Amino acid sequence: MIVDSTAQGSTLITGIGELVTNDGDRSGFAAMTDAALVIAEGKVAWTGPASRAPAADAVVDAAGRAVLPGFADSHAHLVFAGERSAEFAARMAGRPYRAGGILVTVEATRGASDAVLRANLRRLAAEMLRQGTTTFECKSGYGLTVPDEARGLALAAEVTAEVTYLGAHVVPPEFAADPAGYVDLVCGPMLDACAPSARWVDVFCEDGAFGADEAAAILAAGRAAGLLARVHANQLGPGPGARVAAEAGAASADHCTFLTDADVDALVSAQVVATLLPGAEFGTRQPFPDARRLLDAGATVALATDCNPGSSFTSSMPFCVALAVREMGMTTEEAVWAATAGGARALRRTDIGHLGAGARADLILLDAPSHAYLAYRPGVPQVAAVWQAGRLVAGRVT
Ligand code: NIG
Ligand code: FE
Repeated sequence: MIVDSTAQGSTLITGIGELVTNDGDRSGFAAMTDAALVIAEGKVAWTGPASRAPAADAVVDAAGRAVLPGFADSHAHLVFAGERSAEFAARMAGRPYRAGGILVTVEATRGASDAVLRANLRRLAAEMLRQGTTTFECKSGYGLTVPDEARGLALAAEVTAEVTYLGAHVVPPEFAADPAGYVDLVCGPMLDACAPSARWVDVFCEDGAFGADEAAAILAAGRAAGLLARVHANQLGPGPGARVAAEAGAASADHCTFLTDADVDALVSAQVVATLLPGAEFGTRQPFPDARRLLDAGATVALATDCNPGSSFTSSMPFCVALAVREMGMTTEEAVWAATAGGARALRRTDIGHLGAGARADLILLDAPSHAYLAYRPGVPQVAAVWQAGRLVAGRVT
């Protein structure tokens, strides 16, 4: 059996038990059974019933298994050195999570060579790919000096187009007595050095990190430098993050664990995607965010890993889907949509997250007959093969 598609040749994947396309008339989960899909020139060229599939240069038999869009992980912190398993173990023994733990990783990251950071980043990116993530966002935020933030973003730009400047992760120790001075640095020289490598600006708007006015100023400066906004909002307690995100026209407010009704309304009316990161609640033993409430209010919900060494050291979108279904009131369809099309919305991308004709051919073959197995068989590796822009990049089809 021929298994790959080249830039020149087309590939027909047929015998698909369930093909999740997310390209129905209404925005939302859409799928067909007994389906086929044709990849040509890195894009989806055709989808439809297997019985009507056109000929192609190469043929893959999915043998009744499911095909999904690749996961779009819109929130990850992959540029760092070191690890914090002792902090995790202490939390599981009852110690609370505090934003200050970030500084442990800042120290390790500042002291690491480019080669160490690059190797760590590439290992995590490869881990993501094997688990079906074909697009991921990557933040800086563990450097917190001009050269360290610029270096983090340059490294991130080696592995993804979705690069986020998070100089405003926490106030570093050398500015402890002058947090306003640090905000000036983030909005001035650090932004100047970082904006050329980034697409996004982010701020951790939370007690112990940055307040509403600081966050608004940082997002405004980032926008003036041509960056699009996203916000860490309402993770550890109620606060102004979601409102700040709405006022700034952010693409996404991330975490959204502690929202008031007014926060939910603000996200819905400003069309800010609520990106939920259940790995963080798992890793900090906090309550999970209420996805059901957001969906019922009409919000667009995305799921992402928040992969980082402190609060959520998972790179697994299937794990997040399973948590969202079991713990956050999402249906299996809603969770898979949120992990694919939702992530694409959070990144303001229309070329990914769905498998309509013309979409980038980023797709996953599951070793299972339906998307529901991602939550039904939690913790079991079920991603058999992954295509990125039409190329088989992980796994195998047999
Ligand atoms: O998204 N919230 C802020 N940043 C990360 C945690 C980073 C860390 O603990 O190192 C988060 O959970
Ligand atoms: Fe985060």
